[in-house]
Amino acid sequence: MKNLWLVLCIHVGLLLGKSFGAHFSQQPSDKVIVAGKSVTLPCVVIGYRGVVQWTMDGLALGAERDLPGWSRYSVVGEPSLGEHNLHIEGVELSDDAIYECQATQAALRSQRARLTVLLPPGDPMIPGSPVANVLLDVPYNLTCLAPIAKPAAEITWFRDGKKLDSAIYTKELLSDGKSEGSASSLLITPSLADTGSSYTCHVRNEALPEGREKSVTLSVQYPPKVTLSVEPPTITEGGSVTFLCSAVSNPEVSRYRWAKGGVPLAVSGDKYTVEVDHTFFTAPVSCEVSNSVGASNVSTAVNVFVAYLAPGPYHLYLSTVLSNGNTLLLTKVTREDAGVYVCKAIVPRMGTTEKEVTLMVRGPPVITSEAHYESILGGKARMECVIESTPAPDRIVWAWDKQSLEEGSWGRFSVETQVTEVGVVSYLVIDGTEQSDFYTEFNCSAINQYGEDSVIVSLRQQATLPLTFLLIAVGLGTLCIFVLVITSILCCRRPKKAVKDSQILAVDVSGSEPSVRHPSDSEEDLKEPLVRTKKKTRGMR
Ligand SMILES: *[C@@H]1O[C@H](CO)[C@@H](O)[C@H](O)[C@H]1NC(C)=O
Ligand SMILES: *[C@@H]1O[C@H](CO)[C@@H](O)[C@H](O)[C@H]1NC(C)=O
Ligand SMILES: *[C@@H]1O[C@H](CO)[C@@H](O)[C@H](O)[C@H]1NC(C)=O
Repeated sequence: MKNLWLVLCIHVGLLLGKSFGAHFSQQPSDKVIVAGKSVTLPCVVIGYRGVVQWTMDGLALGAERDLPGWSRYSVVGEPSLGEHNLHIEGVELSDDAIYECQATQAALRSQRARLTVLLPPGDPMIPGSPVANVLLDVPYNLTCLAPIAKPAAEITWFRDGKKLDSAIYTKELLSDGKSEGSASSLLITPSLADTGSSYTCHVRNEALPEGREKSVTLSVQYPPKVTLSVEPPTITEGGSVTFLCSAVSNPEVSRYRWAKGGVPLAVSGDKYTVEVDHTFFTAPVSCEVSNSVGASNVSTAVNVFVAYLAPGPYHLYLSTVLSNGNTLLLTKVTREDAGVYVCKAIVPRMGTTEKEVTLMVRGPPVITSEAHYESILGGKARMECVIESTPAPDRIVWAWDKQSLEEGSWGRFSVETQVTEVGVVSYLVIDGTEQSDFYTEFNCSAINQYGEDSVIVSLRQQATLPLTFLLIAVGLGTLCIFVLVITSILCCRRPKKAVKDSQILAVDVSGSEPSVRHPSDSEEDLKEPLVRTKKKTRGMR
């Protein structure tokens, strides 16, 4: 009875198979998969009991379910239910192909299914990373490589986190015919500001949407930048000077070399201390600093000169060297430039010679005076104003109330003029002062072709004291001191008015030689190195 049912069922099955035919109830379809994952392509055949096999790009994989020779491949599912699914373990790029499931005896073929295998990019490579040594101002090709990926990796550059768009992208199909290599080049011209900046290369494709990145830090290298200083900058012959060769460099300094007038010196550090003589004036000292990318050579001469002490309270300093050539050019001359200039010629090993030239600066008069003078009522009063003027003033006028006086006398008033070393001194003398004189403003003015100046002077009444013997003695003592003070004031007096620099002042040169204006007048001037030294002589005007 049991056998009978079985036979019946088989007969029914065969009957159905014959009447409806064998067919696929599930077929493989196109799939995209990332390498390394596993995949199962479905194939279920109903109403069929014969051989089922798979093809890959038209090549049959075999009839056995464990597919010998294809270690990662197997046919899985329940055969009695017609399941012949193709399972691929750990998909590789070589599995990227077109698959078909075939029921051979029924001449059935499934639809063709494309299995697309994606390959994520590996770590990008930047030659030189993590630190790329680049040369200052020399164009450098910063390249990022994403060697194997499918599809080709996109590459993006960032500088210090900011996206860059100037890179050039290239890709190529590799020999397996499936994966691609890509590269992105960024042409940079390093500046000093690029030192320490970080360039990041980011690679991604569909298989690795988040991507990967690699960074490189720039180290900008350059030959040493050298400054050679001399301490002290000017020196008298026989004094000791130190040359300091300071260099900024990347990479670090590897060597210092020194020479004097082209002759190498036995010095190796960044300092050279030596006693100077006149040869340092003509043979410059040079310092050459090297690092692994280059060398820089700088040189300097030393101002070696003989010290001068000029007379007067303002020149107790060492004079300054104003020029080493055979001319001295002064631009924007001011009153302060007036004075005595010394031109000194040094002939190495022969000696020195010098000449003085006086520079006078022409301009409007400058008057200095006390604001008040004292006098006893009924006594004699004497007011003065000192006029500094080159050329000499054309007129000196004293004016008060409605009166004015240039010279001679008028009633109680008289004018006296005196030419001194300091300038022209003009006195207004009142013989027998009256009360009103102490309320009057006296205006002393002077004029020359460049302009004029004036000051207001007034009189103050002095208390009359009983003339005791003691007071006469004290008075005499005070008078002595007063005379001394006045004398020193007159000697050292300075103009109280500032002269604007923009003021146009004529320049007159007087002296023993016209060589300031005409340096070629004397042939000897050209042959010898010249040093001009200015003596400041403000107190003498
Ligand atoms: C930069 O280097 C890459 C790789 O070496 C090269 O393919 C590219 O042509 C170079 N680009 C320039 C502008 O030199
Ligand atoms: C620096 O250059 C000058 C001029 O070319 C040369 O005379 C001198 O010897 C050089 N200095 C050094 C230390 O090489
Ligand atoms: C003094 O006299 C001069 C020349 O006459 C004049 O220019 C100037 O204004 C006078 N000064 C005063 C304060 O009156």
